[in-house]
Amino acid sequence: MKGLILAAGRGTRLRPLTHTRPKPVIRVAGRPILHYAVENLLQAGIREVGVVVSPETHKDIAESLRHFPKPFRPTYILQEEPQGLAHAVQVAQGWLGETPFVLYLGDNLFQRGIQDFLAPFQKGVSAVIALAEVEDPRQFGVAVVEDGRVRRLLEKPQNPPSRLAVAGVYVFTPEVHEVIATLKPSARGEYEITDAIQALVDQGKTVLGVQVQGWWKDTGRPEDLLDANRLLLEALEPRLEGEVTGSRLVGRVVVEKGASVRNSTLIGPVHVAEGARVEEAYLGPFTSVGPYAVVRKAEVEYAILEDEAQVEEVHVRLQESILGVKAEVRGKNGLPRTHRLILGDLSRAELA
Ligand code: G1P
Repeated sequence: MKGLILAAGRGTRLRPLTHTRPKPVIRVAGRPILHYAVENLLQAGIREVGVVVSPETHKDIAESLRHFPKPFRPTYILQEEPQGLAHAVQVAQGWLGETPFVLYLGDNLFQRGIQDFLAPFQKGVSAVIALAEVEDPRQFGVAVVEDGRVRRLLEKPQNPPSRLAVAGVYVFTPEVHEVIATLKPSARGEYEITDAIQALVDQGKTVLGVQVQGWWKDTGRPEDLLDANRLLLEALEPRLEGEVTGSRLVGRVVVEKGASVRNSTLIGPVHVAEGARVEEAYLGPFTSVGPYAVVRKAEVEYAILEDEAQVEEVHVRLQESILGVKAEVRGKNGLPRTHRLILGDLSRAELA
């Protein structure tokens, strides 16, 4: 079994964050999204991993994976033109050969890994696809399933026939290459993996739909990133390896090696990455401070600060915010306008 991660996309819905860097390298809860995909493949015992990149994403993806914390050597496969997911598989066909494989969309996150989708991939099964029930399936592939078998698949339909969205993990036998070779571009001009799977179904092959247990996130929009960050931080194991002085830490907080937290209040879950500096600051729940970022005389909560981002002397609390690499927010003199009040019965405070 091989693993094929797709990381060639331009991430247009995440602009401006993705103007400069591809989506899978954005950090959630301190780690690039892509690292969770690799971790899940390795945990499922898949050691041979190919990563499909585009000329635009190649450098950043390779740089991010160079920092993967375990021994891991991916094979990079170049998709020159963005012609769809099935096209990406076709480009990788030479590397995949006659081996069954897991196709993993590099911007998708699964709380419980991918084991649940591999287990039903037995003899006689041509494909297994991960499915998740969602409120509005119109922005996804949508499946109609009977007795666990996929009967119909539609890509981003206006009138979805079910609420089962195609989540970003698929397991295939090499049979899929034959159907991909026969595909025509869809209305949006792409070779769709959903069309390839529909072709397998039409040929009478067994395609199983397995519902995702735990949460699943397609990190298409900024609010998805913040939510993914929240979900991952929910499971944070507290750990203090950096320097913490004169500060109050409440709940689950991680301060990585080389980070410093001084005269600050951190209400967890909060992750402070290596080399980050937090001074005279407040970090509220669901905040990730990236490597070498600085938060000084400022208040931040429900936020992602990427590597080397800086928030200094800002007078309002930053909330539901994402700051890209080296982004800066600055105010002038003075502390943020947030107050901690303990008011007894019948007291009255007027805050200007
Ligand atoms: C792709 C697939 C879609 C799937 C989705 C999951 O869409 O085409 O079928 O539901 O990933 O993330 P994209 O997000 O690339 O538009």
